[in-house]
Amino acid sequence: MWMNQAAAHIAPLTGSEQDEVLRLLEIPPQAEMGDAAFPCFVLAKSLKKAPAIIAADIAAELQTVGLDASPAGPYVNIRFNRADLAPKLLQELEHKEFGKLQLGAGSRVVIDMSSPNIAKPFGIGHLRSTVIGAALYRLYNEAGYTSVSVNHLGDWGTQFGKQIAAYKRWGNDEALKAEPIRTSLELYVRFHDEAENDPSLEIEARDWFRKLEQGDEEAQRLWAFFVEVSMKEFDRMYERLNVQFDHTLGESFYNDKMGAVVEELKGKGLLEESEGALVVRLEDENMPPCLIIKKDGTTIYPTRDLATAVYRHDVMKADKMLYVVGGEQKLHFRQVFAVLSRMGYAWSENCEHIPFGLMRFEGRKMSTRRGKVVFLQEVLDEAVARAFQIIQEKNPNLPNSQEVAEAVGVGAIVFGDLRNNRLNDVDFSLEDAVSFEGETGPYVQYTHARINSVLAKAAEAGYLKNENQLDQDHISSINAAANTENKPIMVGDTSWALLKLLADYPQHLEKAIHRNEPSVIAKYAIDVAQAFNRFYHAERIADAPADVKPFRVALTERTAERLAYSLYLLGVQAPERM
Ligand code: ARG
Repeated sequence: MWMNQAAAHIAPLTGSEQDEVLRLLEIPPQAEMGDAAFPCFVLAKSLKKAPAIIAADIAAELQTVGLDASPAGPYVNIRFNRADLAPKLLQELEHKEFGKLQLGAGSRVVIDMSSPNIAKPFGIGHLRSTVIGAALYRLYNEAGYTSVSVNHLGDWGTQFGKQIAAYKRWGNDEALKAEPIRTSLELYVRFHDEAENDPSLEIEARDWFRKLEQGDEEAQRLWAFFVEVSMKEFDRMYERLNVQFDHTLGESFYNDKMGAVVEELKGKGLLEESEGALVVRLEDENMPPCLIIKKDGTTIYPTRDLATAVYRHDVMKADKMLYVVGGEQKLHFRQVFAVLSRMGYAWSENCEHIPFGLMRFEGRKMSTRRGKVVFLQEVLDEAVARAFQIIQEKNPNLPNSQEVAEAVGVGAIVFGDLRNNRLNDVDFSLEDAVSFEGETGPYVQYTHARINSVLAKAAEAGYLKNENQLDQDHISSINAAANTENKPIMVGDTSWALLKLLADYPQHLEKAIHRNEPSVIAKYAIDVAQAFNRFYHAERIADAPADVKPFRVALTERTAERLAYSLYLLGVQAPERM
């Protein structure tokens, strides 16, 4: 909004559209230089003048309409009238629709997220998919889309034959119910170990999967049991992360929907035989062929994703489909989207793979085989235990410290993930993530809680909420005071920087959506927390002089709201006290 003001004044002087000027305007590298800088290089050609001359001309023109503008080489630096603009910005921030965008115009975005595999551990990749997906879900809703989340469980495939075969040989119901994933994993590991010397195991496994596909009663019963116990464990995780799904539809759901897709591929002449299997060739797209039917006649992962995409388009009425899945599946999704396009579905253009990098925990990798596994529950428990310790030291009298520790520990993991550009590989350090200092979730949460105590103090000191109603009187009192030489500065440097940052929130949301990048919001939250802490150290709030107090308290309230809201978008709680 404050940038718009500058653009509105500059546009007529340059003969460019206001939007174009807005796009060119920069934030000067140092706050002392002003609030906005307009680069004049681009105009040199059309105006046939040196950029520095243009800058001087524009600055002079802006001065005649009362703007504080000065040329600095090829730039025009502009400084806004804080007393005039500050109340307007505050008022804008108070509006209950502030920050909501209308980018989506109601279109429906189906987000494929989390999607762990039954009878296998919930890996770090699934954690990343869950937290990135949940953040995108909220961001899209904020921006005027209708988000629909789907947990595309890996609940089908030949590995279930192995699982059943292993269970039949060595399984134990009690253990499986008590610790489903660990027990399933042990069975799986044992299967692979013993299968090296006992080839009959592989045959048994293949048999069981065939029986499963054909609807054999015992196979179905065992499969359903595995799904049930795994889901129970996943649900505990989702509850802790506070993530819900609109739909949980695993790969098995598409079992009876793949036939139609295969027929369609045949009908459209896209299926070719290759060494006994059926594939769609993708040479023109510079990709290896997409396998559709294996030699043994069974379907495979890509076949299920084709049926899934068609279902999401036809039945769920998706306008846009996002797949939040690790970068190692890049080729898979390129192939699936290319096959959809070959089938003549123009909407394949609206399918997008949202990849992310690898994450290690203190150098340890997640693995599902051979026991080298970090379990997420344990990581969360450890984070919560550390948060509890820090809270005990800082605030031993906090009444609900266990609850707060859960919010801080889990929040530290979620935020620690989301603050990274999603494509980056991350080596996660628990100690850094849980620290109350630095660019962490707990730092943002702690700042938010500190703001609450500042506001409580302000209330004690007789600050009334309705005092900050930004009516005409208040605005003119700020203006008048700023114009009087010997009055304290109404809007100091640190409060001004904070206010501008708060008012900038919609641009950050737009950028986050545009790039499918929740880290934009995480970084924004850190910037706001830092800007607040500078303000807090430089300017008095609860005990500020009476004439500036309403402004500062209102600014503090808006900061608390923005921080809590940014954390909410990321799926992190904002405790009132810590
Ligand atoms: N279950 C798969 C895995 O863990 C991820 C599924 C992603 N979604 C999809 N539509 N393919 O690797």
